[in-house]
Amino acid sequence: MYLSWFSDILSHWGVGPTRNDKEAPVSERNYSARKRVLVTGCAGFIGSHLCRRLLSSGAEVLGVDNFFTGDKENIRDLLGNSLFELMRHDVTFPLYVEVDQIYNLACPASPIHYQYDPVQTTKTSVHGAINMLGLAKRVKATILQASTSEVYGDPTVHPQPEEYWGNVNPLGTRACYDEGKRCAETLFFDYNRQHSVRIKVARIFNTYGPNMHPNDGRVVSNFVVQALRDQNLTIYGDGTQTRSFCYVDDLVEGIMRLMATEESVTGPVNLGNPEEFTIRQLAEQVIKLTGSKSKIQEHPLPADDPRQRQPDIRRARELLDWEPTVPLVEGLQKTIAYFEDRMQGGDFSD
Ligand SMILES: NC(=O)c1ccc[n+]([C@@H]2O[C@H](COP(=O)([O-])OP(=O)(O)OC[C@H]3O[C@@H](n4cnc5c(N)ncnc54)[C@H](O)[C@@H]3O)[C@@H](O)[C@H]2O)c1
Repeated sequence: MYLSWFSDILSHWGVGPTRNDKEAPVSERNYSARKRVLVTGCAGFIGSHLCRRLLSSGAEVLGVDNFFTGDKENIRDLLGNSLFELMRHDVTFPLYVEVDQIYNLACPASPIHYQYDPVQTTKTSVHGAINMLGLAKRVKATILQASTSEVYGDPTVHPQPEEYWGNVNPLGTRACYDEGKRCAETLFFDYNRQHSVRIKVARIFNTYGPNMHPNDGRVVSNFVVQALRDQNLTIYGDGTQTRSFCYVDDLVEGIMRLMATEESVTGPVNLGNPEEFTIRQLAEQVIKLTGSKSKIQEHPLPADDPRQRQPDIRRARELLDWEPTVPLVEGLQKTIAYFEDRMQGGDFSD
């Protein structure tokens, strides 16, 4: 117990087994000179795609997950890859590993999941950030935070540029996620200013694609699963609220480009698709593409649901030469094919 308390204290102060300043980076000491990359939240939706892309770029990947919302099925094909290692670990506890880069994605991302245990959600964002930043400090790794458009809350500025400070209700049921992520950003910038940790902060907007959880209430997976089952598509409110949807391949390309930027680029950088659709338009498109008999059904709007969300991606264009390339119809077709496949395999029950 004392040992764990002591290591917690060490981690909070960013000390522990520290890499000597004169020591070569891990990649130079490693016989294969491969980059060693830690991905937290590796078994989740975005994490699983990121791991696959990193492995195909030649990196060695250490995936960490506590499997709260992650699914081993998402990374099953990686388990036989000798460059991939999977570790069950909760980021609210310190982690001692040697890596060159850290992508910190661990955090439940859908309201159903992050509101299930709100205290744990805040801990995952805040303690998780402290632990991963402490690790980055010790091993002199570059660390990227998967932040979110939710830091803008219910925005009064449209579209949202990175300079906008947001409009978040700090007491509501979404605050565990929104404020947790805002505090994580604060920690990233303080570790950068105070300890010179190399940081990258990506503010991710609605992303969709294969490997999304079928029952997490996120709008794209909800609609696709409901349409494939010929159930009515549930929209909250009248469906005139807008969202922008970024296909996961585009998003992963964006975060990898951000990680590759020079040290002075810290972010935050918005990553998302600026093309805006109403929720009703999305529902209609899904019904059309699945050929479903489903109808659209309105339900009451949940608390603090933002009216509009659209990224201003000028910074990403300028710094990363990045913008989304996958049109909504193409991305939806791939997502529908994925869910169809898994439903036919009997993976999802009602
Ligand atoms: N998908 C989106 O549209 C979106 C938008 C904005 C931000 N993000 C951020 O991107 C990241 C990944 O999101 P996602 O959509 O892949 O979500 P996800 O729920 O599919 O993946 C999150 C992963 O983190 C793991 N995890 C949760 N708590 C953990 C903990 N304490 N320790 C270790 N692992 C833990 C889960 O088991 C899961 O595998 C999250 O940080 C999320 O906030 C996602």
